[in-house]
Amino acid sequence: MEKRQIKENIYWLGAIDWDRRLFDSLIPLPDGTSYNAYLIEGSEKTALLDTVDPPMEGTLMAQLEGVSKLDYLISHHAEQDHSGTIGRVLEKFPQAKVVVTQKAKGMLMDLLQIPEDAFMTADDGQTLSLGDKTLKFIHTPWVHWPETMVTYLEEDRILFSCDFFGSHIATADLFITDPCRVHEAAKRYFAEIMMPFGKIIAKNLEKLKDYNIDMIAPSHGQIYDDPAWIMDAYRQWVNGPPQNLVALPFVSMHGSTRQMVDYLADALVQRGVRVELFNLPVTDIGKLAMSLVDAATIVVGTPTVLAGPHPAAAYAAFLANALRPKAQFLSIIGSYGWGGKTVETLAGMIGNLKVEVLDPVLCKGLPGEPDLQALDNLADAIADRHKEQGLI
Ligand code: FEO
Repeated sequence: MEKRQIKENIYWLGAIDWDRRLFDSLIPLPDGTSYNAYLIEGSEKTALLDTVDPPMEGTLMAQLEGVSKLDYLISHHAEQDHSGTIGRVLEKFPQAKVVVTQKAKGMLMDLLQIPEDAFMTADDGQTLSLGDKTLKFIHTPWVHWPETMVTYLEEDRILFSCDFFGSHIATADLFITDPCRVHEAAKRYFAEIMMPFGKIIAKNLEKLKDYNIDMIAPSHGQIYDDPAWIMDAYRQWVNGPPQNLVALPFVSMHGSTRQMVDYLADALVQRGVRVELFNLPVTDIGKLAMSLVDAATIVVGTPTVLAGPHPAAAYAAFLANALRPKAQFLSIIGSYGWGGKTVETLAGMIGNLKVEVLDPVLCKGLPGEPDLQALDNLADAIADRHKEQGLI
C-alpha cells in the first residue's frame, strides 16, 4: 500500500498484515494486524516515527522511495515489530539519528546491534523542532516494555502512541469506522500485554491529561480521530472496580468436570452473578484475557491428570498469574479418579494474585448430590462476596 496523508505533511506509512494469526508465538490475532509508521515533514527537518516488522521491510522501503532525506528516526519501543527495520532504514539514510529513551538505546544495541553513534537520546518532556512542527517526547514506561515513550506533535495535537492504545486489526480504513470493533480489539491487546502493568499505565494516563489530543495514531490498528473514548476505556480497565463476573476457564476429559462447570455456571446465574466459560482446549486465550480484565472471581475447572491439574488448566493458571488481573476471589473445581494434588499444585501457581481462595470442590468421578451441594455452597459464597463488594 502507498503512503497515505493524515494531515498536511503528516503521512501514514507501514504495512497491513492481513494474514498474521499469532504474535510472539503466543497471542492470537483473529483479525490480523498492522505495523504503522508515520512520516512528518517539517519545514526544516523530516522524521520517521517507528518502522515495521522485518518480514514487511520491503513495503516500508518502497514507501520511502520518494523521500529524499530523513533527519530523525523516532523509535518509541524496541520490540522488533516496530524497530526491526531500523537497520535497513539507516542503510538508506545513514545520516538519520535514531531518537530513543536512554533505556531503549541499550535495548536496540542489544537486540538489533545498531551502533551507539546512531542514537540521540530524548529525556522525558524534551522537544525536537522540525521547523514548523515540534515533537515532544513523553516517557511512558511499561506500555509494555520498560523503555517505551510516546510523541506529541504540538502544532497538530497528534499523539503517536506506539503500542499504547493500539489494536490488532488489519484494515484498509486508516481512521476508525467501527468503534465497537476497535474497543474489543484494543481491550484484547490491553489484556494480553499491558494488564500486568496497570498501576504504571494509570500514571501514564494521568500524565497525558495535560495534553490537548485531537488524534491518537498508534502503531497497530486504526487512528483515533475522537480519542476521548479510548482514553476513558483505558482508565476503566486500569482503575475501575472489578465487575460482577466469574471467569471460568476449564478443561474436561471424560465429562465429569464439565458437569460441574455447567452446574456451577447455572447456580451462579440463578444468584445474579454473570459467568463466562472458556473450554481451554478450544478457546481463544485472548477472550479469556479480556474476561480477566473485568472478572471479580476466577474459578478454574480441571480434572486430575498424572496427580495434578490438566496441563491446559495449569497453563490458564500460569497465564492468569502472569497477567495479574484485578480479581478478588478464586476457586478450583474438578474431578479425580483416585487422588492427586491438583488444588495444591494450582494454588502454588498463583502467587501474584491478591485473592481470597474460596473452598475448592473436588469430587471422585461424576459429581453426586454432596458435590452438587458443595457447588451450590461455592455459588452462594461467590454471590455473597460480590454483594459485599457492591457488585450485585
Ligand atoms: Fe507492537 Fe510491543 O510491540
